[in-house]
Amino acid sequence: MEHPVSNDVKRAEAPAPPAQSPQVTWTRRWIIMSFWAIIVCFGLPHWLLTTSTYRATLPLDSMDWWAQGDQVCAVDEAGWLPQHSENEKAFRYASTYHLTFSLFTPAAMPADWSIEEALNQYVRPLTTALSNVSDFTIETQVQLHASFSPSIAGPQFDAATRDWILQKSDLRGFINAAEWPLSPSIGAGPTMNFVLYVPALEQTPLVIAETGRSTSWMILQWGGVAILNQVGEPSPKLTMADMEPVMLTFAEQLATLLGLPSDAGSFDNRVLHLKQTRAVSLIKSASSTLGALSRLTLKLKAIAIPDTVAAAVDKTLSSLEQACNALQLGKWDTALHHARTGNDAIETAFFEPSMVGQVYFPDEHKVAVYVPLLGPMAVPLIMTGLKEFRSWRQARKAKAD
Ligand SMILES: *[C@@H]1O[C@H](CO)[C@@H](O)[C@H](O)[C@H]1NC(C)=O
Repeated sequence: MEHPVSNDVKRAEAPAPPAQSPQVTWTRRWIIMSFWAIIVCFGLPHWLLTTSTYRATLPLDSMDWWAQGDQVCAVDEAGWLPQHSENEKAFRYASTYHLTFSLFTPAAMPADWSIEEALNQYVRPLTTALSNVSDFTIETQVQLHASFSPSIAGPQFDAATRDWILQKSDLRGFINAAEWPLSPSIGAGPTMNFVLYVPALEQTPLVIAETGRSTSWMILQWGGVAILNQVGEPSPKLTMADMEPVMLTFAEQLATLLGLPSDAGSFDNRVLHLKQTRAVSLIKSASSTLGALSRLTLKLKAIAIPDTVAAAVDKTLSSLEQACNALQLGKWDTALHHARTGNDAIETAFFEPSMVGQVYFPDEHKVAVYVPLLGPMAVPLIMTGLKEFRSWRQARKAKAD
């Protein structure tokens, strides 16, 4: 008699779910398992594949070895490499330089100049001699009706000497950056500007104060300026003869900006010394970039290392070796060639966009992105899975009992 009563009580407390046919139960389980199977077999591998960073192996030991060598290639620099005072006007070394030669005048004349011939005679010998050190591109332009910047006082007439005097304080603002089209070239490498300024007839001769009537000056990290005071009527076209003094000035300014030592004797000797200095400094620079890259990859574990970077490192290592061999044999052009190849390769690799991009995706960011995306989907899946597992276990237990 007790049984039915207790059964009744139980029902009142917790009504049992309507009995399910085993088929329905199994269909439900199949559905849940299919969801999980898709997640585990497709979702997870795909997620791992698309979010994991690929890290090619780098020869870190060799990289560090190069980076540590203070005496690059066992070359005792102080001993036999020529020493020159550092030229603070020189540009930082670049593999390519853009040279821009501009004629500016506030008047309408001269509207033309023999610049191509002049470049061939005064500038190209230098760029050709240094063609193994850097590449050069040359542009020219003529700009008429160019006015001074309002920020400078402008030349003052000196009645005693009948000169127009440009104050030294005006030299910095002489280039009217806002209006004169001297924008840097597009593309890699810095631009060196050379400005030939022909003053208006009524402001001729134009000279710089306190310099003994000097007419040229250099601007740090920018280029050079030379004033050409025409005698008599302005001619419509500047001839080679007109331009000779200015072009000689530009050639010397260019040599200085490129870091050609001024105290090394003949032209060939100056070029040779520049090649030696550049070869050694390029090897050093490439070595220190190798070291920086090695430290970077050790420090940032999440950073990707594409195969291109590993290939660039290999190329740099072999180039450095060849450069050193050539250096020890005194083959400067060969050493330069390999040093440039190695330095270019490692610089490009260091700034590899696919590598740098990863730096800005630390794990915290990934969590912040994935949780709102996957959370709403994961919660019901896990809950249903757990519930079904529990009921399956209970059913099995009940059977076993
Ligand atoms: C450039 O280097 C090559 C060897 O790599 C050499 O034969 C050539 O004479 C060099 N050019 C100049 C202008 O020095």
